[in-house]
Amino acid sequence: METAEIRRRFLDHFEGNGHSVVPSASLISPDPSLLFTVAGMVPFIPYLTGQQTPPWQRATSVQKCIRTGDIEEVGKTTRHGTFFQMNGNFSFGDYFKEGAISYAWDLITKSHDDGGYGFGEDKIWVTVYHDDDEAAQLWKKVAGLPDERIQRRGLLDNYWHTGQPGPGGPCSEIYIDRGAEHGPDGGPVVDEDRFLEIWNLVFMQEQITDVKAKDDFTVVGDLPSKNIDTGMGLERVAYLLQGVDNMYEIDQVRPTLQRAADLSGRRYGADHTDDVRMRVVADHVRSSLMLIGDGVTPSNEGRGYVLRRLLRRSVRAMRLLGVEDTTIPELLPVAKDCMKAAYPELESDFDRISSVAFAEEEAFRRTLVTGTQIFDLAADEAKRAGEFALPGDTAFKLHDTYGFPIDLTLEMAAEQGLKVDEGHFRRLMTEQRERARADAKAKKTGGADTSAYRQLRDAGPTPFTGYEELETESRVRGLLLDGMAVPGASEGETLEVVLDRTPFYAESGGQDSDAGVITGDGFELEVLDVQRPVKGLIVHQVRVLKGEVISGQDVHAKVDREWRVGACQAHSGTHIVHAALRQVLGPQALQSGSYNKPGYLRLDFAWGQALGAQTRSEVEEVANLAVRRDHAVSATYMPLERAREVGALALFGETYDEEVRVVEMGGAWSRELCGGTHVAHSSQVGLITLTGESSVGAGSRRVEAFVGIEGFRHLAKERTLVSQLADLLKVQPDQLPERVERLVAQVRDAEKELAKARSSELGAQAAELAASARDVYGVSFVSHTAPDGTAADELRSLALDVRGRLGAERPVVVAVAGAGESGRPSVVVAVNEPGREWGVKAGALVRVAAQTLGGGGGGKDDVAQGGGTDASKIGDALTQVEHSIGQAVTG
Ligand code: ALA
Repeated sequence: METAEIRRRFLDHFEGNGHSVVPSASLISPDPSLLFTVAGMVPFIPYLTGQQTPPWQRATSVQKCIRTGDIEEVGKTTRHGTFFQMNGNFSFGDYFKEGAISYAWDLITKSHDDGGYGFGEDKIWVTVYHDDDEAAQLWKKVAGLPDERIQRRGLLDNYWHTGQPGPGGPCSEIYIDRGAEHGPDGGPVVDEDRFLEIWNLVFMQEQITDVKAKDDFTVVGDLPSKNIDTGMGLERVAYLLQGVDNMYEIDQVRPTLQRAADLSGRRYGADHTDDVRMRVVADHVRSSLMLIGDGVTPSNEGRGYVLRRLLRRSVRAMRLLGVEDTTIPELLPVAKDCMKAAYPELESDFDRISSVAFAEEEAFRRTLVTGTQIFDLAADEAKRAGEFALPGDTAFKLHDTYGFPIDLTLEMAAEQGLKVDEGHFRRLMTEQRERARADAKAKKTGGADTSAYRQLRDAGPTPFTGYEELETESRVRGLLLDGMAVPGASEGETLEVVLDRTPFYAESGGQDSDAGVITGDGFELEVLDVQRPVKGLIVHQVRVLKGEVISGQDVHAKVDREWRVGACQAHSGTHIVHAALRQVLGPQALQSGSYNKPGYLRLDFAWGQALGAQTRSEVEEVANLAVRRDHAVSATYMPLERAREVGALALFGETYDEEVRVVEMGGAWSRELCGGTHVAHSSQVGLITLTGESSVGAGSRRVEAFVGIEGFRHLAKERTLVSQLADLLKVQPDQLPERVERLVAQVRDAEKELAKARSSELGAQAAELAASARDVYGVSFVSHTAPDGTAADELRSLALDVRGRLGAERPVVVAVAGAGESGRPSVVVAVNEPGREWGVKAGALVRVAAQTLGGGGGGKDDVAQGGGTDASKIGDALTQVEHSIGQAVTG
């Protein structure tokens, strides 16, 4: 059964049972505490914890996931993949254990004909949390499972959470017995390779925190409702139902593995070490494809580092398979072809995806050379000094500067009979990772680890005065440099400042942070970025332009007025475009993300296909009419419950407080939960000019627009372009389309005429040449030198035409030669059937002629073509052909 079919059956089964089908979210987790989407439930976390009311009580999805914790296991076991797809069904306070168990049992045991997976009931084992008598009882009641196939396990195996504070719960896992040849009997508690886990049913009922390990966390209390979160491994079920040995051999992965094998010239299945490498390549190339598809680019930290590691490990694995050439351009298209049916955006975005991946391979290839030299030097030195191991800092430098994965260094060292001081290497890595983590936070959240922020936050939240005023008198509450509280900073330094109160808007809700300056006694700070690293605390990233700032000083905080006007226009413009989209397309065109800054906005929304030009204009028109109507814009605080009642739009993936801010334009015309800054009247937005519309993943589109004066500038630029064209074509602008259309038609007609003239000219010439045939030893022979500039294929059609006109009564040989545009001579010889019977062969004649021309050529007996370098020899070449006919006929 193909993977696509397994996926379809899953969604059909749950849709048929009242679940809404929700498209896969991005691999980039919407939850800031997670680097990647690691499970099907990640996009639903706010619903599970009760922070948001879910739009449905039952949902089902096939979610793209990335987990790299077990990267070393990839290829060695049958089931570890860095990218995989998790089929899930979710109940938000609706059905619970019994429903989850019976839906799962039904689907896995139902026959293929009935739309199920048809696993034999006697092959199915389950586990439950050690004290979950209820689940054990239900497995007996619903599925009739005997006691011995219901095993109990503790927290480590049968309690599930994401590894971060959030929802969790005991779970029940479903295993399939692959048979005695795969390991000892005794169920999953004895052997997890023979007994393969395919599905995890999580009974999500607790809020947990303080997560130190899988089995070490604190339960805070019960979730507001009892929920179901399940995860069925699509790849695992595929490998069982496709009768292959592991997840790397299923239809979505195997072609890439095969390509790796073909490139290496080695056979998959012949050698265990090679097999593992091929599987690593197939897995990592696919994961890289999916990550780049979702917008990740290689870098030295965070998500980018994971991607870099995956790509470099695949390149290295190919090298170990003996392939020195670039490999990603060979492998990536194969992986894409395997995945594009489920994720069509991989095909349409492949130019971008492949250029990111190819560039990374190139970069790695360059550093491999230098890195290898450094390695060789260090290895020589170690050996000379009588050491047994390469120093840890060399391994670290190779890793950090040259992107050598540690296993590469280990393997290279082993080849030299050396070990690596791995302990030292790991210590350096940990230190570096901590630095990277602080850096990543510094970028997004402004600096230090959160404890420094928390201390500042303990003195109370930062009041935001920027809704009412752009300038505020305030005081420096704290200064942070690289995460540490510092008493002061001087000119040229970049650091973080927390004020008692601030008019600066911190980036959130899609709106970029404010720009401006903070001044005080003898100093001036330029505000570069503003973030809220912990709830309630506003942190300014600043550069000291002059003087020295000291904690506790009084300051004057001043937002750049023009910047803020632009920001308000762009943010209000975003609400207007959102409302316009929903008016034109329907309420389902809901915003899923946005970004706006002065002059520019972009908005992502749920929609399956491209908007045509007409629809785009319609959206633009509705938006600009709303601008013109001068709708009053207001912001009101109300309880979340009330906001929902009045139909305010909340955004998926955002978490809201109990008391929310609702921004309205023209009453119900647009009503959204929003903390951003806005114009007072819609007319102040000025102008909205849509500039682009594109896909950002399955079921999601993006519109972009220029706003206010930028909208005008964009139109002005286009107008200049139009008037240049109108001048060039000497018409009024509104006649341009007609004029261009006419021009295109004229060019097309002229081309047709030209082709006609040329062919009748050639026809006349062919007739003339046919009439000029001479008798050479009983053969009708035509030889002709075409005018300079005649292309080789024209020579060829002329020769064939002349041969045709001379019929098949008697032997015919036609030889035409000429110099093409480049001045290089070509020759074509055509011989008819009687001629060939007489022993005259076109290929042989062309060879003779081409030699005379200083080149070579050949071809079949009936027509052949050749060329040379010396056009002055064309006459000689044709004479040679004539002589050779004599030799062929008489010899
Ligand atoms: N969230 C559960 C898992 O990932 C279903 O196993």
